[in-house]
Amino acid sequence: MSDLQIISVPLGTRSYDIEVGFENLEHIGSFLNAFQPISTVVILTDDNVIRYDYAHRVAESIAETGIDVHLLSVAAGEQSKTIETASTLWETLLEEGIDRKSVLISVGGGVIGDLGGFIAATYARGIRFFQVPTTLLAQVDSSVGGKVGIDLPKAKNMVGAFLQPLGVLIDTKTLQTLPEDQYRSGLGEVVKYGVSLDAELFQFLEKNTEKINIRDSVILKQIVADCCRIKADIVVEDEFETTGRRVLLNYGHTFAHAFEIQSHFMLLHGLAVSIGAICAARLAVRMGFIDETFLQRQIRFHQNLGLPTEIPNSIDWRQTIELMRHDKKSEFGKLRFVLPTGIGSCRLIDHVDSSLLEQGL
Ligand SMILES: NC(=O)c1ccc[n+]([C@@H]2O[C@H](COP(=O)([O-])OP(=O)(O)OC[C@H]3O[C@@H](n4cnc5c(N)ncnc54)[C@H](O)[C@@H]3O)[C@@H](O)[C@H]2O)c1
Ligand SMILES: [Zn+2]
Repeated sequence: MSDLQIISVPLGTRSYDIEVGFENLEHIGSFLNAFQPISTVVILTDDNVIRYDYAHRVAESIAETGIDVHLLSVAAGEQSKTIETASTLWETLLEEGIDRKSVLISVGGGVIGDLGGFIAATYARGIRFFQVPTTLLAQVDSSVGGKVGIDLPKAKNMVGAFLQPLGVLIDTKTLQTLPEDQYRSGLGEVVKYGVSLDAELFQFLEKNTEKINIRDSVILKQIVADCCRIKADIVVEDEFETTGRRVLLNYGHTFAHAFEIQSHFMLLHGLAVSIGAICAARLAVRMGFIDETFLQRQIRFHQNLGLPTEIPNSIDWRQTIELMRHDKKSEFGKLRFVLPTGIGSCRLIDHVDSSLLEQGL
């Protein structure tokens, strides 16, 4: 339980700490105690995660401090990020007498983080929020940065808010129970940070692929902490996504979103990002930003981590280009990509000429 890493996210009155450790789930009680007075804690989790006891252990640790704890669970998966689930949760909170001195804690993956944060941002005009992410994707990405929300039937993450949590507690031991495909999906985001934003992380990952593949706890703790630090630094510079800095977190994502839509979201997000990152690197070679040697090194690196690099046969290229023109993050039908310019560096390129893509990549 030693060797905790604490990452501060300095955002003025919304500043908070991210604690990254191994077997540190039981720290939650004392972590939260600093935010007294707290009338009640509501723990939100999902029907998968609840089987592993993480939410119960969080509940026990808080109950030991004398705070009243309620545990709520929703169906696992994206299907719960809806207005219907949100509405049921609002009603439940009301019935259980949750007030503005309460804290809502999400214990689960990105779905529970986004949904729980949305409930916290809206119920009673806002209650305090805390994150205990249990998937690799949530630990390195969705629990950091304050974006919370739900989906509309035709658009993911379309309704939401910016809500920074009181804190984030990450226990990388929870990753041991993660299904293999979910673990790989999280690695897709980890690789993104290394390739596009941090050369040191890239080299560390490249050196440690075997340990990463067996989920070595020391290595994982280091990687999760590094990714949180990288994302936190960017969020601090561009909390509300207005300066363009935060867009740099989207390497591989323009392609990934188009692939996810065409697969009807059967392709996991981080795996789509992995393929998208290689597509973006191929485009960067075509535009002269990087050379073929770097591209081949990146492809080998993804493959050594069991990450996909080829576009699935089921994907239609013309439709991919059309979807990318209308990506939520593109403006006025322009093709816009974050492209690598070297190891650990990238640039946002607006107005990419579609003729560069028409023949495929
Ligand atoms: N807010 C943000 O900035 C942000 C960023 C990226 C992604 N997201 C959102 O995150 C969501 C995806 O998150 P996700 O990939 O964590 O999906 P998820 O929350 O659906 O979790 C994936 C699966 O793993 C299970 N699970 C979670 N922890 C487990 C554990 N420790 N052991 C075993 N099983 C476990 C869950 O029950 C679920 O079935 C999407 O809705 C996406 O929009 C948000
Ligand atoms: Zn992503």
